[in-house]
Amino acid sequence: MTNVKLSRPILLLVAGLLVLQIAVAQKSTPARAQAGRGVEHAIDSIIAGLTLQEKIGQLVQYTGGWSTGPTGEQTINQEQRAIIRAGGAGSLLNVTGAAETRALQRIAVEESRSRIPLIFGLDVIHGFKTTFPIPLAEAASWDPAAVELSARIGATEAASAGVHWTFAPMVDIARDPRWGRIAEGSGEDTYLGSVMGAARVRGFQGTRLDDPTSLVACVKHYAAYGAAEGGRDYNTVDMSEQTLRDVYLPPFKAALDAGAGTFMASFNEINGVASSGSRFLMTTVLRDEWKFDGFVVSDWGSIGELIPHGFAADPGQAAERAINAGLDMDMEARAFRDSLASLVKQKRVTVATIDEAVRRILRIKFRIGLFADPYRGTSVEREKNTLRHPSHIAAARNVARRSIVLLKNEHNLLPLTPGTGAIAVIGPLAQNKRDPVGTWAGPTDTNHVVTALEGIQEAAAGAMIMYTRGCGIDGNDTTGFAAAVNVARKADVVVMVMGESNDMSGEACCRSFIGLPGNQLDLIKAVQAVGKPIVLVLMNGRSLAISWEAANLPAIVESWHLGHETGHAIADVLFGAYAPTGRLPVTFPRVTGQVPLYYNHKNTGRPFNDTVHYTTRYLDVPSTPLYPFGFGLTYTTFAYSGLTIENAKLRTTDSLRVRVMVKNTGSRAGDEVVQMYVRDDVGTLTRPVRELKAFQRVHLAPGASANVTLAIPVSDLAYTGLDMKRTVEPGSFTVFVGANAAADLAAHCEVVAR
Ligand code: NOJ
Repeated sequence: MTNVKLSRPILLLVAGLLVLQIAVAQKSTPARAQAGRGVEHAIDSIIAGLTLQEKIGQLVQYTGGWSTGPTGEQTINQEQRAIIRAGGAGSLLNVTGAAETRALQRIAVEESRSRIPLIFGLDVIHGFKTTFPIPLAEAASWDPAAVELSARIGATEAASAGVHWTFAPMVDIARDPRWGRIAEGSGEDTYLGSVMGAARVRGFQGTRLDDPTSLVACVKHYAAYGAAEGGRDYNTVDMSEQTLRDVYLPPFKAALDAGAGTFMASFNEINGVASSGSRFLMTTVLRDEWKFDGFVVSDWGSIGELIPHGFAADPGQAAERAINAGLDMDMEARAFRDSLASLVKQKRVTVATIDEAVRRILRIKFRIGLFADPYRGTSVEREKNTLRHPSHIAAARNVARRSIVLLKNEHNLLPLTPGTGAIAVIGPLAQNKRDPVGTWAGPTDTNHVVTALEGIQEAAAGAMIMYTRGCGIDGNDTTGFAAAVNVARKADVVVMVMGESNDMSGEACCRSFIGLPGNQLDLIKAVQAVGKPIVLVLMNGRSLAISWEAANLPAIVESWHLGHETGHAIADVLFGAYAPTGRLPVTFPRVTGQVPLYYNHKNTGRPFNDTVHYTTRYLDVPSTPLYPFGFGLTYTTFAYSGLTIENAKLRTTDSLRVRVMVKNTGSRAGDEVVQMYVRDDVGTLTRPVRELKAFQRVHLAPGASANVTLAIPVSDLAYTGLDMKRTVEPGSFTVFVGANAAADLAAHCEVVAR
């Protein structure tokens, strides 16, 4: 093929025409289709003008972070700049800052022959310079609007710093809290995970992908990465296709339906096929069934890891298996860069396959507006005015307090009365600015963290506040115990802030024991012996096994890792400026040995019964969880009554409509999250004991009641049968409605054949 040199004026003309077409296309579907065709034509002409090396360059992503730019930002070195100039890179990750990204983009669009803009990617997971709660905490809000807002602000900030693409949302279902990456997702449930994944995509991408405040989302890790055996990161996954389709894939589909532009292949294998070489995942399901037309990026080095998986003999075979399976961009394995040209020569990869991968990447570059403005309106000034804007900090405080879950509150110990008495604040996380940011807070400045102690001091200015650390997060140093006991003696109430460091969850941060680390429990026991009321505030990135604490302390507040506004949010809840509204997105086991323990398990032929020996249970621990999925208290109480199903005989095309009366039976206003679970009583294949299908928040004044209606299409009761098709089987269903996954208020309905 002859080389057509792409001139800048021609590229700009193509881009200009497209912008015009896209603007018109916002209005009508035919116009949108026409604009889509316009983009495809433009891509055709770009691809026609590229050399094979330039095409391969589009499929290669390099990391920054090798050098530091003039403003302290991570950037890349001279060698990488030369690669961009030569058209050898389609994307960079880990490069930020308006000045740096502009400088590098300028090389791509002015000094490279192809003049194709780079796409800059970054893990914008829970905020950028304003750090929000970790995703697991945000999922505990059960508030998609809050989660969407958090993602929107993260996008606005990161986009101002020249980022185009976030490697989020992470939608991996995680049923095993030993797995450290549970912190990055929405927990154990498929429905909640789908709702939250979609909310994050909407937040990141905004109403228009080409808006300069939007980031294109990358749904990850495709797929079933959270099902790693033993909760050990990167580990093997072996599961039925039904479980894959019914439990692990729906959040990916929900994110795609919300418009997600890209996917990231996962590190793990499933049933012997490494995901980064899985044609089934990346082509059969994603492209053929779901009609995804964006691109798939590998995880870091995951194409190269096909070799240790035993799925490829060398980098060449790894590249071949990956690209032929449908993987489009190589993050840092260098396998595409080093092997694709010779694979084409050897006819192991076709030019058409490479062209298709280039097309998918260019499509996203067009959609996010890079051909109209490769800089997407960034400037150092805009960046400065955007980062940590006061409205972002206020939103971070609000999302943080919505993420807190009240687990125990005996005799209404909480809320505390501000401004009176003596409060002892004890624990390794109380005056700690590093750990509350949680995992994936790379771009953050931890100096901005408001600690729990600072929050308490601010909210309870009139009280006497005594602080001591007591012990470390890890280790067995007991030298601080005496001081802790001493301040507890002088206090009216003790607040103990305990939990995990930020690097005890996240990638490669798995734990075999999920109780409080180090000697924290010993410290709690020593302080408890003093006899003062204790409020335990937990900071952690997973569910914890805290049986002793739950049995022996009067109040427990689960605050996760809440980000910059940690102390404000905790104090808002402790002193009652905010009544807790969070609910658990994960089951809390009694002991580590119970995991994986999740609410939507199968029943077995010997359902657990702690009084009957030959049932599915352990001898040494009750079968129930310590706190069930969906659980959370507030400063009032609620009663449920009058559950009715509007139409107890349903066709598959109907809606299932359920009504229940919820009453605030306490003396304060509060939010209840009304949850609806459904069990398919008998199936051709066995079904889980119950599955969350809908939830609705209701705010009630003391004594007030509300009639809450929850409705779902009957098609939501479908599951994957032996033929791998999702269908609703006629038969009886039990509907449970209540405050958590242990709800026992039930009603029955029947789905009849149409
Ligand atoms: C590896 C992680 O698994 C993935 O989640 C992340 O997006 C990439 N590294 C890039 O940082």
